[in-house]
Amino acid sequence: MCGIIGYVGEKDCVSILLNGLKRLEYRGYDSSGIAVLNKEDNRNEISMVKRVGNLKKLEKALSKKEMKGSLGIGHTRWATHGKPHRLNAHPHLDCKNEILLVHNGIIENWEPLKNELISRGHKFISETDTEVLVHLVEDYYNGDLVKAVRKALNKVEGSYAIVVMSKKSPNQLVGARQDSPLVVGLGNGENYLASDIPAVLEHTNKFLIIEQGEIANITKDKVEIYDRNEKLVNKSPFETNWDISSAEKEGYEDFMLKEIMEQSIAVRETYRSHVYKYKISLDESNLPIDIIKNIKKIFIVACGTSFHAGYVAKGVVERFARIPVDVEIASEFRYKDPIIPNPSLVIAISQSGETIDTIAAIREAKRKNAWILTISNVMESSAVRESDGAVYTFAGPEIGVAASKTHTAQIMICYLLSLYLAKVRGEITSAETAYYLNILKEVPSKIKSVLDNHSKIKELANIYYKFPDFIFIGRKYGFPAVMEGALKLKEISYVHAEAYPAGEMKHGPIALVGENCPVVAIADDSSVYNKILGNISEVKARNAPVVALTTIGNEKIKNLVDHVIEVPKIPEEFSAIINVVPLQLFAYEIAKKLGCNVDQPRNLAKTVTVE
Ligand code: AGP
Repeated sequence: MCGIIGYVGEKDCVSILLNGLKRLEYRGYDSSGIAVLNKEDNRNEISMVKRVGNLKKLEKALSKKEMKGSLGIGHTRWATHGKPHRLNAHPHLDCKNEILLVHNGIIENWEPLKNELISRGHKFISETDTEVLVHLVEDYYNGDLVKAVRKALNKVEGSYAIVVMSKKSPNQLVGARQDSPLVVGLGNGENYLASDIPAVLEHTNKFLIIEQGEIANITKDKVEIYDRNEKLVNKSPFETNWDISSAEKEGYEDFMLKEIMEQSIAVRETYRSHVYKYKISLDESNLPIDIIKNIKKIFIVACGTSFHAGYVAKGVVERFARIPVDVEIASEFRYKDPIIPNPSLVIAISQSGETIDTIAAIREAKRKNAWILTISNVMESSAVRESDGAVYTFAGPEIGVAASKTHTAQIMICYLLSLYLAKVRGEITSAETAYYLNILKEVPSKIKSVLDNHSKIKELANIYYKFPDFIFIGRKYGFPAVMEGALKLKEISYVHAEAYPAGEMKHGPIALVGENCPVVAIADDSSVYNKILGNISEVKARNAPVVALTTIGNEKIKNLVDHVIEVPKIPEEFSAIINVVPLQLFAYEIAKKLGCNVDQPRNLAKTVTVE
């Protein structure tokens, strides 16, 4: 997830673009760039500055350079393809340095397109998927920039929001979108394109939304929008009353709620980035086939929410790939002198990639000659750099301290990795792989339907927010989800909560339950459903209020429990990615009801870089 912006008008736009990028920085901040065209004396001179690091680096470079122009584009990056590097920063140029483009999204078929363009003589300088786009536009450019962009986009698969400018048409910007957001900001004698409203809110509050597959042709005096059939679309602008800070939250009260609500997109982008035509690609993992075929054991090392994703991975890797998996708390693993048989694979999970305990666990595993793979949401993070390979989630930057969208994106990676290992080891066939991938492809819409049920969960929180203690119970694939549910409640509402495998309750914890200690149980359709029903009856017998998370259509359980949260049906192996979402919302609403600062909970930090 990156931030993009464009300006066409009379003013010198360098500071307009830079300030706009500052408003978009929460979208990505590992590198950035601005390019402007100076039309004075018909010179049509393009100047560009790109820097690695956050926007301050770009601002400093710009302050040292004489650069002006009244047409320009800018970008702040969250690396997906190609590490943070000046060559990979946007804008990208064509071979003649005449056409420039900034992009937010992922081009899935970039490799075959790149090879095709190289075979036709195009020269590439970056590792990005994006650069393919500007060379495609160049390939089709014949004096009409809108036409060239349309033809180029007809060739690509994936998600994009782009802004394109050309030396040959100094009064024009072209924008287009598919899945990634793009808005037009309407000014007086000037117009803007941007990833979202905050970027240009200080200049206008009049906007047009560019819909799926539309292309916008923008000059300083006019805006034309064409649909995918190249038909002109009539749109009426809307006026926003947002102030800058709320806009960054896109109207949500907190970053955490915004990030919870972004999960179907985060999971979809993560799936799409690794699945193409029913083939799972984990290229950056660099995992050698012989390692996959010969590994005797897998260790997963992580902390907090990432540890819970590791627990999900254990269930599905053992189920599909039939490899024994140990899930280890990283801060324990690094000091326990672990027994690591050779060859072993150690998977580190860390959204930030900067958690010191996880990095130290990686170093310990390396010392013991294990093969290290890191699952992270941040390219080039320390954990990634210390590993043999990496697999990325594409959730975009997460600002709320309590992880949400990075967690479900991690779980999607764990599912894909388990199928990938199983396929390579011959435990499942191509047909079975396609069958499971079809199920995973539907996960984003299932998550969306759970998020649409938000108000029901809010009503429940209004009933349960007064209780001082909670017990969460689950069995098999339900247990990692309740561990995460309990952690979310603890870390943002400061209410005491414990998670237990449901069968373990009668060995002690059941002593805690009663009318003042509600039980939240995962009781969805699964091979252990009848067992969990028994456990629910046990706690009901001790007067505990029970909230059951169950599959839509299960009426019977409503006679047994106090409240139900319904979730869409999915095979049990893949249930955690759905079941964790209502538990995030339950915790969020209880924390809100208790007046907690959910984005910056007390005593916590987003990235724990100290022991
Ligand atoms: C989760 O909400 C917390 N922020 C925390 O437990 C977090 O998961 C843990 O610190 C690990 O962080 P990482 O994924 O960046 O390594």
